[in-house]
Amino acid sequence: MPTVLALETSCDESAAAVVRQNGSRLEVLAHRIASQVEEHAQWGGVVPEIASRRHVEALPTLVDEVLEHSGLGIDALDAVAATVAPGLVGALMVGSVSARTLAALHGKPFLGVHHLEGHLASVLLGDTPPTPPYLVLLVSGGHTELIQVATDGAMTRLGRSHDDAAGEAFDKVARLLGLPYPGGPAIQALAAQGDASRFSLPKGRVSRREGGFHPYDFSFSGLKTAMLRQVEACKAELVDGDAAAAVWADLAASFEQVVADVLVERSLRCCRDAGLRQLVLVGGVAANLRLRREMSERAAACGVQVQIAPLEFCTDNAAMVGAAALQRLRGAQHFSSLRLGVSARWPLEQAEALVSTVAPF
Ligand code: KG4
Ligand code: ZN
Repeated sequence: MPTVLALETSCDESAAAVVRQNGSRLEVLAHRIASQVEEHAQWGGVVPEIASRRHVEALPTLVDEVLEHSGLGIDALDAVAATVAPGLVGALMVGSVSARTLAALHGKPFLGVHHLEGHLASVLLGDTPPTPPYLVLLVSGGHTELIQVATDGAMTRLGRSHDDAAGEAFDKVARLLGLPYPGGPAIQALAAQGDASRFSLPKGRVSRREGGFHPYDFSFSGLKTAMLRQVEACKAELVDGDAAAAVWADLAASFEQVVADVLVERSLRCCRDAGLRQLVLVGGVAANLRLRREMSERAAACGVQVQIAPLEFCTDNAAMVGAAALQRLRGAQHFSSLRLGVSARWPLEQAEALVSTVAPF
């Protein structure tokens, strides 16, 4: 049974996991995450230099823990994998160098994994993994994309955000509302007590040069500006404490609702136009309970089957990196070069190039 040790250090979570392929099922034998979120929260966002240092401190213990917890020694592994792109270069380097060192020392193959390939593979960690063809809505702090996965696994991007990613919009709006980083969970908690129909907010659209709108593309910058105006108007009008608290909750709920509406509507339209009956939801924002609920209910009404990554594997983790690595191992037995470096940007469509004897970077 192919088994991998996987590391993820692309941003502000240090993570390690041991994942095994058991027939058609993927088993997470052990996984650990050391989050740096609290430390970065005081700066309102991720500080790259701090992130790299914390990865260096956290990773050795995480690796020891997952190996011990899995009950497997390093000799039982078939490969060591790490995220190599995209992300913060210094942070990626910590995971990549650690994985390559372990691989070289123990004579194991190394697999460099694309971070988004990891998010896409996170849905395979669920009880009923989907089989292609399907459409993926990938919503994270850095990406908002609609990706068609064909029967042969080939990926084509059909939609994207032209400005902020959905998670970035949550983080920026949270700051406007005086909530801590990361914004998604904070907005979700506040929105749970709010009235989502109180404020009418814009569903940003992206114009096409030839007229009309891109049907599957997204824009969140207008929504962010509309929220800024509402926050300022509310601050100017409010004096009473209880009423003020209710207004912030209603604003959070209205924002969360419009983001969910836009994501659900465009994903379902894309499914319909592409003739796809399965929709997969992955990425940090896929942890949002309103989005999960709205997507499931509205897709069911259109006869589209929805598969959502397990809640614990939506935000950054190493189990999804292990799942992506195992998919590579299932195909041709190609491994990455030990000379493979890291890259802040790399298109998902070229993820294949990471698993080659010739390193693309
Ligand atoms: O996938 P992820 O962990 O990291 C990236 O690859 O970017 O996604 C992080 C993003 C952050 O913007 C965070 O605010 C958002 O996911 N997020 C959420 C929720 N949990 C995390 N957004 C909305 N609702 C949530 N419950
Ligand atoms: Zn991510």
